[in-house]
Amino acid sequence: MTDYYIGLISGTSMDGIDAVLASFENESLQLHTTHAHAYPEELRRLLQDAISNPEACGLPRLGMLDRWTGECFRDAALAVIEKGAVDKRRVAAIGSHGQTLQHRPNSEHPFSLQIGDAATIAAGTGITTVADFRRADIAAGGQGAPLVPPFHEWLFRAQDAPSVVLNIGGIANITSLPTGDEPVIGFDTGPGNTLLDAWISAQRNLPYDDNGQWAASGKVIDALLNSLAADDYFSAAPPKSTGFEYFNLDWLNAFDTEGHDPVDVQATLCELSAVTITAAIRKHAATTREVHVCGGGVHNGDLLQRIRRDLPELRVSSTQEVGLDPDWIEAAAFAWLAMRTSNNQSGNLPSVTGASRKVVLGAIHSS
Ligand SMILES: Nc1ncnc2c1ncn2[C@@H]1O[C@H](COP(=O)(O)OP(=O)(O)O)[C@@H](O)[C@H]1O
Ligand SMILES: [Mg+2]
Repeated sequence: MTDYYIGLISGTSMDGIDAVLASFENESLQLHTTHAHAYPEELRRLLQDAISNPEACGLPRLGMLDRWTGECFRDAALAVIEKGAVDKRRVAAIGSHGQTLQHRPNSEHPFSLQIGDAATIAAGTGITTVADFRRADIAAGGQGAPLVPPFHEWLFRAQDAPSVVLNIGGIANITSLPTGDEPVIGFDTGPGNTLLDAWISAQRNLPYDDNGQWAASGKVIDALLNSLAADDYFSAAPPKSTGFEYFNLDWLNAFDTEGHDPVDVQATLCELSAVTITAAIRKHAATTREVHVCGGGVHNGDLLQRIRRDLPELRVSSTQEVGLDPDWIEAAAFAWLAMRTSNNQSGNLPSVTGASRKVVLGAIHSS
């Protein structure tokens, strides 16, 4: 009988909880059911406040948000089970990434803080729940991020030419999958959608730039682009990871955005995401022939066009073309990581995160 696993994640974009019911039998990913679960508007606003203004988020607020977010993740799991019409006794485990509030892997006391009380998820579903995936990697000296590359490696292990998986979420990350004995590498390249979302939201009160149409109608401001792209993060050597606590409107406002037409700033931000992604691929995955794109940014035609312009000799296509729905790969990765942890198998790649060794990821909350 099939063992199912559930993967749950809400990324930096805070566009809601992605839930998948998946199985990994016969060495292949079967996405049985997918479900996008919106946060209640009030919770989303409070989470955004906590992320944008962390110093003002006191302990009572943090505790309450942890529990409330856990209740939403629990409901997302229950909803995907109901939609999938699967007996929940067949779900071996839930892997819940939670909601990142802070990711500071390079501070004096490195940490990455995800909330979404996993005991609440385990109790409410009756299913063993694995959570807090980033801690063990950080404890082993790693960045705790990105965690998706080993899953990308597993998905594409049958390939016979080097390729890159490019995940464009709020932050963009790449996984370079060489053939032969070379190690897999992967890291956050910098902003994916996060600055695009933040700018259009501040200027036009829209959650995102649909298909990149607004950016496409603007003109890149070269001087601004050059100063943004000169940020040290982009030239730093991997392992490296970043988040919303770094790439946000405060970061952008430290540069000269005044006096420009807002649409031209949007075009410049889209260009920034594109050029930093393509420079990272050229520098760290020089032999690749193919780029498989996933994450919400795959729906931004303008961003993809800029990426393709800079990589004319490579095939740049949605993972959909190889039968993998680009919107659900990250949630599926946490279902896969829950399976790894349940089997006492390691889930990190030290060549990616910089950890000193492979470790089993996550804390297990029994049902
Ligand atoms: N039709 C679209 N056009 C442009 N951008 C889109 C579209 N659909 C989704 N996106 C972008 O994808 C983001 C969500 O991507 P996702 O992979 O879920 O990121 P995260 O993992 O950070 O939550 C949205 O915030 C938005 O910026
Ligand atoms: Mg998302």
